[in-house]
Amino acid sequence: MDVKQFIYEQVALIRETVGQGKAINALSGGVDSSVVTALGHKAIGGQLETVFLDDGLMREKEPETVAATFEPLGIRVRIVDLKDRFFSALKGIEDPEDKRKAFRDTFYTCFGEIVKQSGASFLLQGTIKADIIETQKGVKTQHNILEQIGIDPEAGYGFKVIEPLIDLFKPDVRQVATGLDLPDAVAQRMPFPGPGLATRCLGEANPERIEIVRKAVRIVEEETEGITAFQCFAVLLKDRATGLKKDGSREFGHIIVVRCVESENAMTAEPVPLPWDVLRRLEQRIAGEIEEVSRVLYDLTPKPPATIEYI
Ligand code: XMP
Repeated sequence: MDVKQFIYEQVALIRETVGQGKAINALSGGVDSSVVTALGHKAIGGQLETVFLDDGLMREKEPETVAATFEPLGIRVRIVDLKDRFFSALKGIEDPEDKRKAFRDTFYTCFGEIVKQSGASFLLQGTIKADIIETQKGVKTQHNILEQIGIDPEAGYGFKVIEPLIDLFKPDVRQVATGLDLPDAVAQRMPFPGPGLATRCLGEANPERIEIVRKAVRIVEEETEGITAFQCFAVLLKDRATGLKKDGSREFGHIIVVRCVESENAMTAEPVPLPWDVLRRLEQRIAGEIEEVSRVLYDLTPKPPATIEYI
């Protein structure tokens, strides 16, 4: 694709559509919403308000890191602390689909409130072609965004959604990211699911359990940095297993699974044959640095039969 031409055309289109109006977008730090943020800023500068919904389910220091990435580009990211809203919505929920639904409902309710309060009449959204295909297949519910956030486009005040990436697949989006001078850390970012660490925490996603898996995910990302993989992460199981503490006493501790897969498009995946010394180091660090963990396992299952994430 002609990246320069694409950027030129989309910037012109956003500028023309928004005119003197105000636009808003939600930035997660993933490549799609990052590209939309940079394109929107290039087109309309301060007329775009970029918000980061801090749901408490992100990786370590994620809100600060995302804000710091965009600061040098002159883009201010408003971080909205919604941790309590998300944790109360997830309280007591263990069923994977119920958990996803609670996350989704809370996300759209919170974002709807933010959009309405902002007074914006345009919403910039990082929908890509794969999202549309998956929505048509019933895998995702992403596409009817206005309905989700409770805005009726017919009755409303001409509220409009702008989707500059709708004809692109992920590899093109990564190219555009580079074309917009976004750092490689953003352009080549590993996929991270919308419901965040809630997908990597079986059983209730409460602040204590999320904190355990957050530390484990950080260790896995650090120790697999140079390894070619589609995704590497950690999962906290609901079950427990006996372990021995440093003082020799027994404890019924948490179990962490390490998952590292190679994949083209996330439709299928193969486990990565991590070197033994990397596996051992992962075990030593996870069980050594996270007090509550007594066991570390490695997941050998391809997709199918497993999915990549655990819920
Ligand atoms: P699964 O677990 O279904 O995941 O094999 C396939 C890919 O999609 C990511 N994933 C999500 N991404 N929202 C997202 O934006 C979600 O709810 C979600 N669930 C899974 C997953 O990380 C993998 O790359």
